[in-house]
Amino acid sequence: MSGENTVLKENVFVNEKEKRTGVHNNVNSKKNKKEIKILAKNITRTFTVKNRGEKGVKEFTAIKDINLEIREGEFITIVGPSGCGKSTFLDILSGLSKPTSGELYIDGKLVTGPALDRGIVLQGYALFPWRNVRKNIEYGLELKKVPKKERKEISQEFIDLVGLNGFEDRYIHELSGGMRQRVAIARSLAYNPSVLLMDEPFAAVDAQTRETMQEELLRIWEKTNKTIIFITHSIDEAIFLADRVVVLSANPGMVKEIIDIDLPRPRKLGDVKNSPDFNWLSHKVWELLHNVEGNEKTKVINENRDIAEEISPTVDL
Ligand SMILES: Nc1ncnc2c1ncn2[C@@H]1O[C@H](COP(=O)(O)OP(=O)(O)OP(=O)(O)O)[C@@H](O)[C@H]1O
Ligand SMILES: [Mg+2]
Repeated sequence: MSGENTVLKENVFVNEKEKRTGVHNNVNSKKNKKEIKILAKNITRTFTVKNRGEKGVKEFTAIKDINLEIREGEFITIVGPSGCGKSTFLDILSGLSKPTSGELYIDGKLVTGPALDRGIVLQGYALFPWRNVRKNIEYGLELKKVPKKERKEISQEFIDLVGLNGFEDRYIHELSGGMRQRVAIARSLAYNPSVLLMDEPFAAVDAQTRETMQEELLRIWEKTNKTIIFITHSIDEAIFLADRVVVLSANPGMVKEIIDIDLPRPRKLGDVKNSPDFNWLSHKVWELLHNVEGNEKTKVINENRDIAEEISPTVDL
């Protein structure tokens, strides 16, 4: 390996650069996916909300008894009706919010707050407009006090990975939506978290860019071998990306079903979407969501509209 220091790790040769960035140049060097990375045990989150029209407050249960085992390197997508608690669950995974009851473990350790082992990509990009592409990507590395020279090497690695070469010096307002999303992904990958949490990251980009981003994300995932939890409202997107799709029901948010997606990898949209297996899976998820929409959603609207409006006037149950 051309003089670079190498170590043998889980039967895979990893050079120093790969170790630092988490990017494997050998795509076939995927680790086995058996180890449990994330364990959610009976996660419940309630919010105290105003009791509309009456004095005092009441408890609103957003998610209830969510149990989930996510294996290392797995790609999990979460779907469910609006307001069923997907973002609430992701906030708990990130450590930004605590469950009211239940426990969350990452690598066997109880999660008590946010940490750099988890990267977050949100729909609104949350990029810094006063920093250029490179400086945005280097932000987490600055927090980690990585020296300047190394920061530059690492940011270049991720600029290459997400295909932003030539745009390093651009400011955020000078980029398209898809490019901004790439910066957001690169920024969260740059400090090499082992888990990537993504909340509807492609919702704001046009359909064509979205499809490109989906394929790119899979390519990046194959190379970096992160554990990804990805929230989406798109059934096609959920199936195309995932090893397993978690379908949540609403009021309160609970795991309704977990569907194994055994479509072969690597996946190409054109091939996958035309396959009978994809159509079958798509129909299955649609049916699960349709039941939620048809029966439980009506129930949610009737029982919880007042509470939801109080919490967030724009919430769409
Ligand atoms: N800070 C809060 N205080 C009170 N209620 C909240 C709070 N955050 C979320 N909720 C409520 O919890 C429920 C779940 O919200 P959440 O944002 O997790 O839903 P979601 O599934 O992500 O929806 P969407 O698909 O629209 O993004 C909603 O009814 C919401 O109004
Ligand atoms: Mg949400």
